[in-house]
Amino acid sequence: MTAKRDINIIETIDAMQKVSRGASAQGLTIGCVPTMGYLHEGHASLIRHAARNHPMVVVSIFVNPTQFGPKEDFARYPRDLERDLEIVRSAGGTHVFAPSVEEMYPEGPRSSIHVSGVTDVLEGASRPTHFDGVATVVSRLFEAMLPDVAYFGQKDYQQTLVIRQMVGASPLADVARVRIETLPTMREEDGLARSSRNIYLSADDRRDAPIIYAALKAGSDLLEGGCRDLDRVEQTMHEVLGQVPRLSLDYAVAVDAVTLRRSEALSDGSTVALLIAARLGTTRLIDNLLVTLTRP
Ligand code: PAF
Repeated sequence: MTAKRDINIIETIDAMQKVSRGASAQGLTIGCVPTMGYLHEGHASLIRHAARNHPMVVVSIFVNPTQFGPKEDFARYPRDLERDLEIVRSAGGTHVFAPSVEEMYPEGPRSSIHVSGVTDVLEGASRPTHFDGVATVVSRLFEAMLPDVAYFGQKDYQQTLVIRQMVGASPLADVARVRIETLPTMREEDGLARSSRNIYLSADDRRDAPIIYAALKAGSDLLEGGCRDLDRVEQTMHEVLGQVPRLSLDYAVAVDAVTLRRSEALSDGSTVALLIAARLGTTRLIDNLLVTLTRP
């Protein structure tokens, strides 16, 4: 267990950079956990992991307007700073960076970073401006927090690919040097992936939501049992999801974990990503499992 520490709350980019530069000058490494707040056990485990590896752990809390589409839930996205601070404190975070929208976008959302390829499919196809918003804000957050390592959860798997690609192509030295680490998805006991949006689930939605993990498990069991027919894997996931007729499916796919496209040549050692997005009531849920193929 990481000991409880006092946390400093920083609201401006200038102040954040000063603190980070001061820490680096003393030889301290900085881990960061970028979030949109309303923290849950998934975030807490990222913070605990960062705190085991770095004397300075910055958690950013910023509900980023540019990654929400016009009909999405920006205005009603859950916010509770006091509760978040308590979670950061008990998980071992040392600093919270909580800028305002004006601080992050002083001239409005004028310029943005576009990552190509991996953003054309799945979440990118359903939410066309989403990943430009994510890539742009994460680059700005890194410029402010100046971390050595940034920690993300695997639940937003496509997002982690976008961020890795953004960092790899960044012309900004402070962004290009950040190491990205992806940690496993935290789940409820029945398999539901932890997410800030789970708070929107009605009792019926919550009862039905674990079907998503059940479908992913059915797909991964097939692959682990030696099946290499990705059509069959997808069909199986669809059949499991079909047990909840009120679920509205966006996608349930088995694709190459690097390109997020169907790979014809599956060989031992390659990794298949099983990804699902579905709506239950008013809530859109995403989840995934990665399976590295080995000889059964
Ligand atoms: O995963 C999230 O919470 C957000 O997309 C992120 C990475 C903090 C960017 O706003």
